[in-house]
Amino acid sequence: MSRYAHMAFSSSFFFIIFISFIIPLAFSQLPPQNQIDIIKTISKNISSSSWNTTDQNPCSWKGVKCTGNSITGIFLSKLGISSTGILTDLCKIDSLESVDVSNNQISGTPDGFLNDCGKLKGLKVLNISMNRLTGPLPTFSGFPVLESLVLSYNSLSGVIDFQLDGLVALKNLDLSKNSFRGSVPTRLGKNPGLQQLQLSNNNFSGSIPVNLMNYTNLILLDLSVNKLSGSIPTTLENFANLQTLILSSNNLDGEIPQFLSRMPNLSRFSANLNRFNGAIPPGLTQYLKILDLSYNRLAGLIPVDLLSPPNLQFDEQSIGRGDPNKYFLKLASTAPEQEFAQWVDPSSIGKLPDLTYLELDGNKLTGNIPLELENCVKLTLLNLASNLLQGPLPKGLGKLLQLVVLKLSGNKFTGEIPSEISRLTSLSTIDLSSNSLTGNIPSGITSLGRLSILNLGGNYLNGSIPASINSSISLLELQLGRNMLGGDIPRMPRSLQIALNLSNNHFSGPIPSTLSSLTSLEVLDLSNNQFTGEVPAFLVQLESLTRLLLSNNNLSGTLPRFDTWTTVESDGNNDLKAPTPNPSPSPTIVSRRKRSPAILVTIVAVVGAVLAVVIVAVVLIVSRRFYRVDDENQGLEENLPQVIDGHLITTDSIHKSSIDFTRAMEAVSYPLNVIMKSRFSTYYKALMPSGMSYCVKKLNWSDKIFQLGSHEKFGQELQILGRLNNSRVMIPLAYVLTADNAYLFYEHAHMGTLFDFLHKSSDHSLDWTCRYSIALGVAQGLSFLHGCSDPILLLDLSTKTILLKSLTEPQIADIELCKVIDPSKSTGSLSTVAGSVGYIHPEYAYTMRVTTAGNVYSFGVVLLELLTGKPAVSAGTELAKWVSSKSAQEDAWEQILDSSLSNTSVPVRSQMLSVLKIAQVCVSVSPEARPKMKNVVRMLLNAR
Ligand SMILES: *[C@@H]1O[C@H](CO)[C@@H](O)[C@H](O)[C@H]1NC(C)=O
Ligand SMILES: *[C@@H]1O[C@H](CO)[C@@H](O)[C@H](O)[C@H]1NC(C)=O
Ligand SMILES: *[C@@H]1O[C@H](CO)[C@@H](O)[C@H](O)[C@H]1NC(C)=O
Ligand SMILES: *[C@@H]1O[C@H](CO)[C@@H](O)[C@H](O)[C@H]1NC(C)=O
Ligand SMILES: *[C@@H]1O[C@H](CO)[C@@H](O)[C@H](O)[C@H]1NC(C)=O
Repeated sequence: MSRYAHMAFSSSFFFIIFISFIIPLAFSQLPPQNQIDIIKTISKNISSSSWNTTDQNPCSWKGVKCTGNSITGIFLSKLGISSTGILTDLCKIDSLESVDVSNNQISGTPDGFLNDCGKLKGLKVLNISMNRLTGPLPTFSGFPVLESLVLSYNSLSGVIDFQLDGLVALKNLDLSKNSFRGSVPTRLGKNPGLQQLQLSNNNFSGSIPVNLMNYTNLILLDLSVNKLSGSIPTTLENFANLQTLILSSNNLDGEIPQFLSRMPNLSRFSANLNRFNGAIPPGLTQYLKILDLSYNRLAGLIPVDLLSPPNLQFDEQSIGRGDPNKYFLKLASTAPEQEFAQWVDPSSIGKLPDLTYLELDGNKLTGNIPLELENCVKLTLLNLASNLLQGPLPKGLGKLLQLVVLKLSGNKFTGEIPSEISRLTSLSTIDLSSNSLTGNIPSGITSLGRLSILNLGGNYLNGSIPASINSSISLLELQLGRNMLGGDIPRMPRSLQIALNLSNNHFSGPIPSTLSSLTSLEVLDLSNNQFTGEVPAFLVQLESLTRLLLSNNNLSGTLPRFDTWTTVESDGNNDLKAPTPNPSPSPTIVSRRKRSPAILVTIVAVVGAVLAVVIVAVVLIVSRRFYRVDDENQGLEENLPQVIDGHLITTDSIHKSSIDFTRAMEAVSYPLNVIMKSRFSTYYKALMPSGMSYCVKKLNWSDKIFQLGSHEKFGQELQILGRLNNSRVMIPLAYVLTADNAYLFYEHAHMGTLFDFLHKSSDHSLDWTCRYSIALGVAQGLSFLHGCSDPILLLDLSTKTILLKSLTEPQIADIELCKVIDPSKSTGSLSTVAGSVGYIHPEYAYTMRVTTAGNVYSFGVVLLELLTGKPAVSAGTELAKWVSSKSAQEDAWEQILDSSLSNTSVPVRSQMLSVLKIAQVCVSVSPEARPKMKNVVRMLLNAR
């Protein structure tokens, strides 16, 4: 919100700031003694480091502005001030024009302390934003020249009626982010020249009042995130100066008025997340530069001019990347009643050579894909999923050479997959699932070097998988389930990581031995085929495997014993016997511990010359890629990680003397030492010669460090991370880089992931006190990371990346991932997999950026998990969406909250309800509506 304020604000207040900066330089006489006395009194209540009181002239103190020899401005933002008396004291300085005490902890009812300020003849700006004001809006009397009143981000409540009547000069009123209720106030002071009115994030209800008409000079009107209903009043057309109109996130309905297209000054109109219906009027974009109509109930034909707007540019935060040369159309819907029934006029779509993103998923589009789409040659994202489209996929798709994401799933497309798709060399995602496509999988698809996700499941494809699939070197996920495929299963690319799904096809014969090379694979689904023979033992060695689905085949023999983190489904195989009891693991460990040190010592000696390291890394990567294809049967001993660089980061002498890289590398080569796995990492326990044990984390994705050519930089980043100090964040103590992995060392102090405690464990149940403490701890950790001078963003925040030191002490793990895998800097193939399903902020699909607001969304999902006890995704539904659909109903809270906790006591239930509200703002669809983490911490503390 403050950004929009800034634009207009800076121009209207430029003059004041100009005056107050320049004059003091010219005359530096002392202010009158009474002013000096007052400010010295105040200085006693302000932390000494901010004001250097040894300097006799307060005009040179930080945050004190003088004009001539009078103090005219006091700026005391972010000083932890909690005394309500400070305003009373400050306002004794009779020459004051500007007071900013924002971002402190001033609490209480402001009535009393505002009286004194009202007497000031020259006060123009009063900023008490981000404090702890409570109670009703005080009545302002006096304040003859007050132009700017900012009370945003407090906890003021009640209705607003006559309280502002006394203000005669008001130009800027910001009451956003409070708990005001009642109708939108229309008595906003006696000045018809009011320019900015910000009332967002309150509990205002009723309709947009017609009698705002007394203030037709408004430039900015922000009523977003309230409970307003009704339609946009036609009188709004008389606001000839209006530049910004934000109505997002209310219950407004009716049509988008045509008159908006006739307001030459209106440059931004955001009406997303409402219930607007009817057709979009033509010509809207004649003047508008920023338009957001997503998440409404609009219908009808999409006007051509919306697709080829002369002016439209997008705001980075609300819509997409801020690149003015790109524009996109997002009219996706989330609920069945919000649909576009008709496809845009085909002849018009061909006239959009600059369209970059086209997302129309989840509507009711019918008919064929217009052939003219081939003219949109700049499209990088085409998402028409979940509509009623039919007919063949046009060969012209092969002309969209810039396409990175192609999603056509959930329609009624028929015919063959056009081989022309293989020309689209930038593609990273192809999702054609759940259609009625027939024929073979075109082998050309396998030559797409950047393809990371290929989903052809749920069609009628036949024939066999192209033998060349092995050359699809970027493939992370291959979904071919529910087709009619058969024949030989070719060797799969080693890059496969997310899933290989061959279920519900006609595959037969033994499970192919070539699958043994898929050491990064997490999910392997072979169910519902006709596989025969034994379940091969090599599947146990696939160290990343977490789910193995073998149900409904003709497998026989004895099922091998899998590690505890691998879930195996094997029902429906009549001749398959359960595994034999666990043999004692110790002998292998002992025999294998002996061989390695010699090799390791030599390699550790390589540590040094950075250039050499990079070259070595590249050569090793290349050789691993191309020469190690047939080595999967080699002994595990040769698999010992080859250290090329190892560094202690910690300054703690105990750790420094205990950590032994050689011993750690031995430990990580034994699967039995695995203690935990997350999406991107595997954790090992490593016992050191000193008897101390450490938690060593292997980055499963670390080959990307080398691919990004940032080996040296990664080391530097780790050094920076190692210097952080926050008990809620897992800070690395040391690291080792090997030819194809990176290992980070931590204290071994964790009981497991939050996910395990919430969703798996039955013996340690987390009561509400624990869960609240975990929520607060994670919020504090995240707030700390976001508050760093170079904010640290989390690529994958989920309950699987939050570790528990105790039932009340969480720690955030995987903070280094953004340094390894920066989606915005990398090719599309990496960006498509950032985060875990269920935690990914909705705007990610088109921004492909990890942002602080995105992290807040993920945190909101974690809060919802703590509150509901349900996982982030269950039965295919995302928790955040489930909660938002539930909360629309009466008495929904009862159904949402984990009843085993909420029923324990009334205080527990009311605290859970407060936290639920916080979680809901965090998972707001609009990134702007999400609070900053530091405010989330405050809200959580207030909920205590
Ligand atoms: C405070 O001001 C005095 C006088 O100008 C100066 O000597 C002193 O170094 C300042 N102290 C600090 C901490 O800035
Ligand atoms: C300043 O601090 C003193 C003691 O810490 C307190 O008694 C006094 O009320 C404070 N004054 C103001 C204006 O807050
Ligand atoms: C008021 O303070 C807030 C927080 O420091 C700041 O973002 C905003 O720009 C200020 N507004 C005015 C009008 O000074
Ligand atoms: C609006 O203006 C009219 C006429 O100027 C006045 O009678 C009325 O009281 C004003 N309304 C408000 C809410 O100030
Ligand atoms: C908003 O108002 C509704 C009733 O009008 C009330 O139930 C709800 O608690 C209020 N919410 C806030 C945040 O004040």
